[in-house]
Amino acid sequence: MSLGRFPATRLRRTRQAEFIRSLVRETQLAPEHLIQPLFVAEGELIGPIASMPGIRRLSLDELVTECRELYALGIRLVALFPVIPAALKTDDGREALNADGLVPRAVKAIKQAVPELGVMCDVALDPYTTHGHDGLLDERGNVDNDATSGILRRMALVYARAGCDVIAPSDMMDGRIGDIRQVLERDGHKNTLILSYAAKYASAFYGPFRDAVGSSGALKGDKRNYQMDPANSDEAIREVAFDLEEGADLVMVKPGLPYLDIVRRVKDEFRVPTAAYQVSGEYAMLKAAIANGWLDEKKALMEALLCFRRAGADLVLSYYAKQAAVWLGEKA
Ligand code: PBG
Repeated sequence: MSLGRFPATRLRRTRQAEFIRSLVRETQLAPEHLIQPLFVAEGELIGPIASMPGIRRLSLDELVTECRELYALGIRLVALFPVIPAALKTDDGREALNADGLVPRAVKAIKQAVPELGVMCDVALDPYTTHGHDGLLDERGNVDNDATSGILRRMALVYARAGCDVIAPSDMMDGRIGDIRQVLERDGHKNTLILSYAAKYASAFYGPFRDAVGSSGALKGDKRNYQMDPANSDEAIREVAFDLEEGADLVMVKPGLPYLDIVRRVKDEFRVPTAAYQVSGEYAMLKAAIANGWLDEKKALMEALLCFRRAGADLVLSYYAKQAAVWLGEKA
């Protein structure tokens, strides 16, 4: 690469005005790159989430209205997270297999109202278990990998039959992508997409999400024997390789901003559709600083989202997706 010499080369020339800055801009951000996570609830669980200002646990009616608005703004995929009442939570999370459960009903309602909008469903047991873990516990209190994978494949089938477009296993069991792919193929769902939470780290940044779905108070211990150690990077490559081999169509890195080096490595190594998740704790940090007047909301958010794209993320899950789509629309 020729580095150029001053003054023949002045790097500030291409920064001098917006016309030239926009001509040399390397990365674009559009509403189509954004995925909106949505919480759905019923009865007294509907309402605001204290640690996530501006985000609500939506009723089914509110959910449908929200999806119409999101589609009109250019958002093409939403990610559903159910808030399950304590009375329906069990040690084995069996409500996850209920074909008339909250998620299947929510998927059907959205697909009926906005059929063009893609619907993604999280596959993991934590919203449904009394202990708040993503799977079934063995007698020593550890999440049993193979038994959990057996439940998750049934759960994925329930969601696919309800009309879910994208199955998103977020549990980090070994081998579950292959299990789910096999059951989908056998049941005739050959076009159901799998977006695997391939490199999901055991992170402190999920706190507000666990408040939102009511799993934080219940969670016994932590998730470090199934979610990844934040210290590891090579291991993320192995996780992604396995999930792709087993049938994932898209892979995700999670959390977001502190893990952009992983996003870049995954994109460079595999060249497959790669998503990143700006998680609840990242959202809460931004909102807290903004509430104090310490950051400019629009500038800070749009910069963060652009940086995900620059790092190699094709798609970004963000609780700010709708707001960003509104701002992107105003620019055009
Ligand atoms: C559950 C799940 C979690 C998130 C998405 N799916 C929480 C966890 O693993 O404990 C976190 C999302 C966020 O923090 O925004 N398997």
